[in-house]
Amino acid sequence: MDPLKIDTVKLSPDGSALVIIDQTLLPNRVEYLSLTRTEDIFEAIRSLRVRGAPAIGVAAGFGAYLAAKYAPDEEIEERFYAACDDLAGARPTAVNLFYALNRMKKAMERLSGNVPSAVREGLRAEAQAIMDEDIAISRAIGRHGLALLRPGMGILTHCNAGTLATAKYGTALAPVYAALEAGMEGLRVYCDETRPLLQGARLSAFEMLSAGVDTTLLCDNMASSLMKEGKVDIIFVGCDRVAANGDAANKIGTSAVAILAKHYGIPFYVCAPSSTIDMSLTSGTEIPIEHRAPEEVTELWYEHRMAPEGVKVYNPAFDVTDAELITGIISEHGIAEAPYGPAFRGWGL
Ligand code: MRU
Repeated sequence: MDPLKIDTVKLSPDGSALVIIDQTLLPNRVEYLSLTRTEDIFEAIRSLRVRGAPAIGVAAGFGAYLAAKYAPDEEIEERFYAACDDLAGARPTAVNLFYALNRMKKAMERLSGNVPSAVREGLRAEAQAIMDEDIAISRAIGRHGLALLRPGMGILTHCNAGTLATAKYGTALAPVYAALEAGMEGLRVYCDETRPLLQGARLSAFEMLSAGVDTTLLCDNMASSLMKEGKVDIIFVGCDRVAANGDAANKIGTSAVAILAKHYGIPFYVCAPSSTIDMSLTSGTEIPIEHRAPEEVTELWYEHRMAPEGVKVYNPAFDVTDAELITGIISEHGIAEAPYGPAFRGWGL
């Protein structure tokens, strides 16, 4: 299956439902869900049926629209704002969720006072614009990243920042799709398994293999060994929120990869839409980090529980990579290098 033919997240053609591929079932089952109710969209985001920072934002945008669509005429605004509040509580780290909901709220401010059909149509158009822009941005990130690639290179990635994490193409894997399109040969992609939720094994490896790429899966603790053997030429990762100084939060384990990359002298790039850059935060210490259920570590994927009852579990879903470990941040505007503050301001942020 061509991964670019997968619709990660979209509005159904008749505009009646959010349609997502259920990522908790991949790679073994390909099933789509049609969701209309805010509580179901909230659940889908929280339980990672739809996941990846940009995809979460797109889903939330459509979720806010659907709340207005199904509200009685006299309650459109009330139900819309309540849905925005609810959806904002689904996950804390990816700023794209709040970016999309803020855009929807601004659209509602502009539309308020119009007849209900015009309000609903305006909200649908705004949510669709968020999705369409995401696709264009991912393609631009792919073009910029492609400039760093040469035939035969080994690319390491962590978690999944591919087409499944965005409306299409992805961020960290977008340069690989761009390379395929350009006919570049011999790329090797290494996917960190990404404990505990296995986005690398289940999603990135699935995507890359399906795209016909030479793909190798490794456990997270094998990355150092792979780098030492000289197999990794460049690292691309995605990102959930970047602070104004360039500190970047991404899936737990990313900062360890960056530290190893520095040790072995391997370039480490963070790929993200500029909307992922949160200029209101001076450094990464201010980025809220989601902590998830202990069972993801002790039980999930195992036939039997694999940890003693009663043990305390540390399960942050994200960590922050210090800006000094990042070779460059690739957005739709190009590749920024340290110092990141001035570079981001040069992008109009
Ligand atoms: O918990 P997840 O699977 O939503 O985490 C996803 C990541 O960490 C991605 O790398 C990030 O959202 C960037 S997606 C283009």
